[in-house]
Amino acid sequence: MVPVYNPPSVAPEVFGAGFELARVYADLLATAGVERGLIGPREADRLWERHLLNSAVVAEAIDQAAAVVDVGSGAGLPGIPLALARPDLRVTLLEPMQRRCLFLQEAVGRLGLEGRVTVLRGRAPDAAATVETHAFDVCLARALAPLERLGAMLLPMVKPGGVMLALRGAGVVEELSIARGELEAQGWRDVAVVKCGVGRVTDPTTVLRAVHAAPQPGRRQGSGKTRETRRGREAQRAGGRARST
Ligand SMILES: C[S@@+](CC[C@H](N)C(=O)[O-])C[C@H]1O[C@@H](n2cnc3c(N)ncnc32)[C@H](O)[C@@H]1O
Repeated sequence: MVPVYNPPSVAPEVFGAGFELARVYADLLATAGVERGLIGPREADRLWERHLLNSAVVAEAIDQAAAVVDVGSGAGLPGIPLALARPDLRVTLLEPMQRRCLFLQEAVGRLGLEGRVTVLRGRAPDAAATVETHAFDVCLARALAPLERLGAMLLPMVKPGGVMLALRGAGVVEELSIARGELEAQGWRDVAVVKCGVGRVTDPTTVLRAVHAAPQPGRRQGSGKTRETRRGREAQRAGGRARST
């Protein structure tokens, strides 16, 4: 295992000019993050691979100067490593828990990211109304919710044509085979699993990418069709006992 003070050799390339600040953030996670229960004590030795690099390589999937929201940011993952690796991004860290928001504020201050990174206390999808509905080009989420619920939570926050990038485990392919219809009914298109960091990091990040489809005239997104899809699936699970009406 790589100790926190000894980052992998690829880290300077991934973080570029933000590398020294990434070291500061890694130290912060390994000390205050662990002490305050935001990071498990066993994570301290594998912070770079599993958390910092895993998050930062997702920069490959984000356009220049995008407005990004990290929903359920926790200790700042993936939002803070991305902000460090990509100084062109404007990042909002959305998190409902007070003590996590406090840690995030402290981290943003220590890393000098004020002005470009904002901490917002709130919960998706309600926070979409607080900021501005469909305010973001990119909506990120790691370890937040099952795909179908995630799609419904994130859609109100993303612009039509904007993307959801959900950092997932290897099981996402199977998860997607079940959830695809529901995601499309909610208003997502071009739903696909992509890998970020291939040829750069040891363990590339698996990401569910989907584009917010432009609303169709006369059709409300995430409405009737979603319920029909859900009923149809329930009918299938129930062996045909229920009927989609
Ligand atoms: C399992 S943690 C993951 C934290 C971080 N993304 C990571 O990967 O380490 C889930 C986080 O989502 C937050 N959360 C839960 N429901 C949420 C919601 N509806 N909107 C925004 N954040 C939420 C929790 O407070 C928690 O910090």
